[in-house]
Amino acid sequence: MDAKELVSRYILDKLKEPQIIGLGTGRTVKKLIEVMNNENLIKGKLFIASSIDTELEISSKGGTVLSLFSGIKPTIYIDSFDYVTSDKIMIKGGGAALLREKMLYYFSPIKIFIGEEQKMKDSSIYPVPVEVVPVGVSYVVSLLKERGYEVMVRESNGKIGPIISDNGNIIIDVMVRRESLCNFDKEVKIIPSVVETGVFCGKDYEIYLANENGRITAL
Ligand code: 5RP
Repeated sequence: MDAKELVSRYILDKLKEPQIIGLGTGRTVKKLIEVMNNENLIKGKLFIASSIDTELEISSKGGTVLSLFSGIKPTIYIDSFDYVTSDKIMIKGGGAALLREKMLYYFSPIKIFIGEEQKMKDSSIYPVPVEVVPVGVSYVVSLLKERGYEVMVRESNGKIGPIISDNGNIIIDVMVRRESLCNFDKEVKIIPSVVETGVFCGKDYEIYLANENGRITAL
């Protein structure tokens, strides 16, 4: 069994009670939806999701998707991440859904993140996604370069030019040193037209990591 499936099964009990389930975006969340569906935990339940992709996945399995405009808060939020440091800072946004992911995380009383063990990585530098309003992207990119950051505008397969997030924004990936991750999150969000970053520093979340031998580690 692969690690995504193992960790999805591990948290399944937390999703059995009737509740509004917030879900993130990506391959791990897709696996979780598949595992939930096999256990009959999709039909008849309410979901709020961080992307159109996850909304479609839930709908295709008969789940009911609530609009974020409803203002209804999930009772639990489940998502994955691209990297987690050994001191629980997460980098998210590989699927360009970081803004809605941070919203749902913030407004949920219970926040659980799951992933493969290899996603725990202590590096000196990480690529951090930043969501920027399109009209501001040239200003933001040049300012960050002036400050010494390496910056890439994220491009898409199947479209020429930058990818556009579900919120109509552009994603740039900025190389940030590990010791600066949480400061970067604060510093960059005061630049007009920057909407959100993929750095999660709150540490008010549970993280479960799995490896293919079935070992689960809680952070
Ligand atoms: C999407 C995310 C995802 O949680 C992250 O990219 C991990 O995805 P996957 O489950 O495909 O490894 O932050 O914006």
